[in-house]
Amino acid sequence: MPTTAKRVTVPEFAGARLRGDKLVVVTAYDYTSAKLADEAGVDAILVGDSLGMVIQGHATPLPVTLAQMQYHTACVVRGVTRALVIADLPFLSYQVSPRQAVKSAGSMLKVAGAAAVKLEGGERIADAVAACVRADIPVMGHVGLTPQSVHRMGGFKVQRDGEQLLKDARAVADAGAFAIVIEGVPSDIAAAVTAALTVPTVGIGAGPSCDGQVLVYHDLLGLFDGFRPKFVKRYADLGAATRDAIREYADEVRRGVFPAAEHEFH
Ligand code: KIV
Repeated sequence: MPTTAKRVTVPEFAGARLRGDKLVVVTAYDYTSAKLADEAGVDAILVGDSLGMVIQGHATPLPVTLAQMQYHTACVVRGVTRALVIADLPFLSYQVSPRQAVKSAGSMLKVAGAAAVKLEGGERIADAVAACVRADIPVMGHVGLTPQSVHRMGGFKVQRDGEQLLKDARAVADAGAFAIVIEGVPSDIAAAVTAALTVPTVGIGAGPSCDGQVLVYHDLLGLFDGFRPKFVKRYADLGAATRDAIREYADEVRRGVFPAAEHEFH
């Protein structure tokens, strides 16, 4: 999509395949990074519950709360003028019942200012997706490797059951999702699922046939060393650049070089 100041809406995002456009999505969790991503012209910013790992330092996204997601989403919304802001619903904020899903999802629009929410799961959560959509809350699905199911899956593992994946993606699409993230599946399975759907797919570790791609901000910028999946491409090494800059600052303070005359008030 071309970069203009006009907001990307849910229908525009959902119509990418018809227009032949590739969708570009990146995660962000705060005002400054959201502003940078927005200025770079991404189509959507996902406030992912991956913040449990890259912001909070947990091993999984499971400890992330709804209140924390609302806080980070509100920060992101303030930094964005163009991109669609999609907020993850965290673990146990929607799995209990469709009623719980509507209340949690509604709060991400009403309190935090997101335009849409993302829910993980397929057939099992299709009723929650349908309930949100009935309440006019746009929902993005997420199938395949769903990090909130880490314990059921026995780890963050590539998901290879193509038949189940198709059932899950269809269930979520039939329930009214406007787009679906496919994570951690072999490229041929992701391609088959994409071809079977009318809504666009956004891949992460799912090959090139998806209608778009999403990456975690810290992974793409080389800010996170904790875990480096095969599917990540680093477009910068800001981790090293940040360490170098802070080392230089520390060195200059210790040697009495900073602050210099131009940094003083007279
Ligand atoms: O939480 C997240 O960042 C996500 C993306 C990796 C798709 O769900």
